Amino acid sequence: MVRTRPLKVALLGCGVVGSQVARLMTTHADDLAARIGAPVELAGVAVRRPGKARGTVAAELITTDAAGLVARGDVDVVVELIGGLEPARALINSAFENGASVVTANKALLAEDGPALHAAAEKHGADLYFEASVAGAIPLLRPLRESLAGDTVNRVLGIVNGTTNFILDRMESSGAGYGEALEEATALGYAEADPTADVEGFDAAAKAAILAGIAFHTRVRLDDVHREGITEVTAADIASARQMGCTVKLLAICERAEDGRSVTARVHPAMIPLSHPLASVREAYNAVFVEADAAGQLMFYGPGAGGAPTASAVLGDLVAACRNRLGGGRGPGESAYARLPVSPMGEVVTRYHISLDVVDKPGVLAQCAMVFADHGVSIDTVRQTGKDGEAQLVVVTHRAPDAALSATVDALRGLDTVHGVASTMRVEGE
Ligand code: HSE
Repeated sequence: MVRTRPLKVALLGCGVVGSQVARLMTTHADDLAARIGAPVELAGVAVRRPGKARGTVAAELITTDAAGLVARGDVDVVVELIGGLEPARALINSAFENGASVVTANKALLAEDGPALHAAAEKHGADLYFEASVAGAIPLLRPLRESLAGDTVNRVLGIVNGTTNFILDRMESSGAGYGEALEEATALGYAEADPTADVEGFDAAAKAAILAGIAFHTRVRLDDVHREGITEVTAADIASARQMGCTVKLLAICERAEDGRSVTARVHPAMIPLSHPLASVREAYNAVFVEADAAGQLMFYGPGAGGAPTASAVLGDLVAACRNRLGGGRGPGESAYARLPVSPMGEVVTRYHISLDVVDKPGVLAQCAMVFADHGVSIDTVRQTGKDGEAQLVVVTHRAPDAALSATVDALRGLDTVHGVASTMRVEGE
């Protein structure tokens, strides 16, 4: 039974994703009405530059007054696709105050201020949905929040940034350096003119904060996430990874400590074995590997960005929010009851791959090995190649706290016989 009064949607932002949301709302109108139980229509579309062509959106729906659109009183759901902290935060709060539910893709705002937004939604009896904020089209947050609500998630290991995966994949397949691969990503439209948010890991760190918060029922903010980007990854690192049967990926890793009493969240490049399912994630695709007590290992894979794929996730949330409005219920709110402390990076237990340029003479290997031993770091493998009195020493450690591993590298740098630390990279996924 489809009721006749339509549910009204205010769309904030009509760029790559917003224009696809508007298109799908038009082309799928009948199916959406049947699935929701009422027609759903655009009340207005707020944009910054009104002159630009907006595809299927009727000119009379376009406005530059986003605040006025949100506050007009008859809007059921506000879809926020502006991004950034302000004015998105003020508009979302105004939406709740005006009785609307909110669907957003705004990972930066959620990672910065998620608890306050959830509290505002709760106070006004509204929904806050944000599936599109992490990994584009991939159904990930709903499975974590709902399908795995009865399980205990111990680890989330993901490739959640398509731009950096594209760059690393190009470096891997063509032997290109970072700069050359970035140029190609920019020319093909994968990297933005200012790629900082992607290549320095800010985008992935915001997504890691959201994932860790949901997975561990604990508030995790952007500041809690250790972040390293891919700008220092060299063609030599990728070649070294190959020699070990590994590839290099920018990973978002959220882990529960073995004793279950704390969690960690981090983003950094890491070597993973070619046999790991994440190693086969190519180009700009995303994938997230989840380990849970009862479910075991799960993997979610698909397009992590792009207009139509991200719009698919937004539309799924829109349907859920509309159904709740008709049925009178609410979707899941924030679940942060576990209140686990978030440990610093130094306490993360990981493995290092370290490549050293050393003097090739008796006793150097023993001297380097002693530095590892002095820091309580156990060596797994050592490979040495020598030429003309110089040698390259590649050491892979066993698992140890990151603070001990990093102190080991600092001490190695201080040895007269070590000319340089050519590369240091964590090894994950084993
Ligand atoms: N810039 C992101 C990426 C997509 O490259 O994956 C939006 O989160």
